[in-house]
Amino acid sequence: LKRAEEGLRDAQMTLAHVTRVATLGEMTASIAHEINQPLGALVNNANACLGWLSTENLEEVRNSVELMLDDAQRVTEIITRVRSLVKKAPPQKDWLDINQMIREVIGLARNEMQRNGVALETQLSDDMPLVFADRIQLQQVMLNLMMNAIEAMTQVTTPRELLISSEADDSKGVVVVVRDSGPGLDSKSLERLFEPFYTTKPQGMGMGLAICRSLIEAHGGRLWATTNAPHGAVFQFTLPIGSVKVS
Ligand SMILES: Nc1ncnc2c1ncn2[C@@H]1O[C@H](COP(=O)(O)OP(=O)(O)OP(=O)(O)O)[C@@H](O)[C@H]1O
Ligand SMILES: [Mg+2]
Repeated sequence: LKRAEEGLRDAQMTLAHVTRVATLGEMTASIAHEINQPLGALVNNANACLGWLSTENLEEVRNSVELMLDDAQRVTEIITRVRSLVKKAPPQKDWLDINQMIREVIGLARNEMQRNGVALETQLSDDMPLVFADRIQLQQVMLNLMMNAIEAMTQVTTPRELLISSEADDSKGVVVVVRDSGPGLDSKSLERLFEPFYTTKPQGMGMGLAICRSLIEAHGGRLWATTNAPHGAVFQFTLPIGSVKVS
């Protein structure tokens, strides 16, 4: 299991090298906010530290300094993450079989699904045109959506079902749907899901969906979320017909 998890992490790390294509401008406010929080805490702890120093309470001094190191570490992590996103790497577009791309990502996530008792169903249309797209970037989108679905379903004890489907038609282009039976999305989440740094997970960075959306939009497509009746969430993306050809 340990090794399976490491394998998945490696695969995710490879995929994470993918560039964030959209302008950094739209993210600046969120990034500033995210960095200001630990910086504010750092200043508070530094002031507290000065106070403890004047009363020579070394125990509290040590305590404050440790908190300051944690805050500094947090800022470093945020900056590392942001830098890896803005590294310029031009997309490598090629004619792709979307179903094959989906199967590859299912292979990467298989252990994670088994470990969490998730049953997978696929409905991949065998009438799919090839799409002109960056394979690694689309894999990253799929992996992010699947990992989110798996993570969401760990919160429920009802059957954990993941449905992945693909289809294509002249008006909509190619449509890929990831549907789960997790807790679903409340209206507040629905509004904020795609914002950078919006997360409800203790270990989350909240970058997954923001990156997914910018990658899909860079391909001329759309990515959106809806709720799944009676429970769960549905994420779907389209790729435009203009970028497809009949195989
Ligand atoms: N399938 C889903 N079901 C329910 N909630 C979801 C689902 N996918 C995403 N969310 C909600 O949207 C939030 C943002 O997702 P996003 O992928 O952007 O960040 P994250 O998963 O929290 O962190 P990370 O940066 O590691 O991906 C999640 O924290 C979760 O609250
Ligand atoms: Mg995520």
